[in-house]
Amino acid sequence: MSTSSNGHSNGLRSANWFGRHDLAGFAARGWTKNQGYPDHLFDGRPVIGICNTWSDLTPCNGHFRIIAEMVKRGVYEAGGFPVEFPVMSLGETLMQPTTMLYRNLASMDVEESIRANPLDGVVLLTGCDKTTPSTIMGAASVDLPTIVVSGGPMLNGKYRGTDIGSGTDAYKFTEEMRAGNMSAAEYLEAEGSISRSEGHCMTMGTASTMACMVESLGLTLSGAAAIPAVDSRRKRTAHLVGNRIVEMVREDLRLSKILTREAFENTIMINAAIGGSTNFILHLLAIAGRIGVPLALEDFNRFGSEQPLLVNLMPSGKYLMEDFYYAGGLPVVIQQLKDRLHMDAITVTGKTVAENTEDAVCYNDDVIATVDKPWAEASGTTILYGNLCPDGAVIKPSAATPELLQHRGQAVVFESIEDYYERIDDPDLDVTADSVMVLKGIGPRGFPGMPEEGKMGLPKKLLEQGVRDMVRISDGRMSGTAYGAVVLHVAPESAVGGPLALVEDGDWIELDVANRRLHLDVPEEELTRRRTAWTPPTPHQDRGYVRLYTEHVMQANSGCDMDFLVGKSGAEPARQQMGRKLKV
Ligand code: FES
Repeated sequence: MSTSSNGHSNGLRSANWFGRHDLAGFAARGWTKNQGYPDHLFDGRPVIGICNTWSDLTPCNGHFRIIAEMVKRGVYEAGGFPVEFPVMSLGETLMQPTTMLYRNLASMDVEESIRANPLDGVVLLTGCDKTTPSTIMGAASVDLPTIVVSGGPMLNGKYRGTDIGSGTDAYKFTEEMRAGNMSAAEYLEAEGSISRSEGHCMTMGTASTMACMVESLGLTLSGAAAIPAVDSRRKRTAHLVGNRIVEMVREDLRLSKILTREAFENTIMINAAIGGSTNFILHLLAIAGRIGVPLALEDFNRFGSEQPLLVNLMPSGKYLMEDFYYAGGLPVVIQQLKDRLHMDAITVTGKTVAENTEDAVCYNDDVIATVDKPWAEASGTTILYGNLCPDGAVIKPSAATPELLQHRGQAVVFESIEDYYERIDDPDLDVTADSVMVLKGIGPRGFPGMPEEGKMGLPKKLLEQGVRDMVRISDGRMSGTAYGAVVLHVAPESAVGGPLALVEDGDWIELDVANRRLHLDVPEEELTRRRTAWTPPTPHQDRGYVRLYTEHVMQANSGCDMDFLVGKSGAEPARQQMGRKLKV
């Protein structure tokens, strides 16, 4: 490796900026030095990009500037040159119409920012739901050595002596308030008690699911997913990640060497055992598409649906991520599943899954059960097929009332989310606890962006009667912190003319989770008549990114990536400016 401060050739891609003997090298080094970097940082050492999704508008990632500093310490210590850069941040609780609309846009930002700049390796700082898949998707399309640091979950919420969980208890409090069992003052008190510290949602919602997905894929240090955001071990992990990414560059350990078919299969099995979010399916499909690993919706049935539920966390269970960490975290789950997993898969540590987890110890078997005595025999998400969802739909049985997993009921149809909110509390709404609520127009194209509206709160008059779960069907998503007999991700969606568009009030619908079937019991001739009369909806926005998204987004069974983003373009910029490259 050259040590010249004015030019070197060391085989690293950053040398094409900082190692040049020409005007381009002069500009790259000279202008970067305006931040106070001394000459020796340009001596050919690995340049590590720290991709930061910090934003005041993403509260779950609000502590990421500190995490970035910890990563920098580790990079410097290992002999690298850390450079932090911002990317679009997706704050789940604030963005409209939905962060899912912008996941692909953020991934483009990440991809192009990495490729366009003098980086040899990348650390992705992720936390709030979509900040994880968006950054990994973008990084996968470049395929440099990459490692992820998640920001960690919040501490357990505390309300009147009990632990409360992000999202899950917010939904419960809202239902109790609507049912007249909670006062406005109590509701306000709960609001101030649920998010007690820095970090992302601490239920096994989408953010925690994504953090566990990262660890299961082998993209972070073993045991990192569950460390609370405010625990000093989170900062130490960030420091160690800084150390490790420099080594990964030297070893040329790229994402594609870690994101193998085996790693994806492991991740599906582990996600089932932890009771992870349904959103996991969309994001894992999209990541697999970027790195070029064949993965299909049916793989989630094949590898996920028969796994034992081992983790007793909300929304499927009782505890929260802080408890999961103290109980031993994901390494314990992985050891429990060792006879099913590909334990020889390589991870960012350079070691196998087996080596990373061999010392795992469970400290609380009420939080993490054993394979021999699980919380449920068959967990995971179930992929449904049938004439209502020819390209699949998703249900999370562990979060549903067991009696509703086999159900036949008559449809109560809402043509749009606005229609739903207008009529759901109408005392004259013709609905019973046996009805099947059907919501159209919340798919990837139709909404657009496939919002988390699929949970559909129950009609007030049924809540007042004590009803707490019903079968609900839509082409949208559900928060990972939510629960219920909710069928999601129906594909094709209604806005492109999928069979969901043809459902009418009073139609009989059969849900049969054991046989993975969702059936609209309407004669084919009648469906043909309705199909002929159907007209597509007008797009909600006809310019800018939303237009690009609407024209190119794929259906839920393909992970909702945009068709032209699937695959990799590698690390080479599309062209080089030549005007600055005359030798000096
Ligand atoms: Fe950010 Fe839940 S709102 S993780």
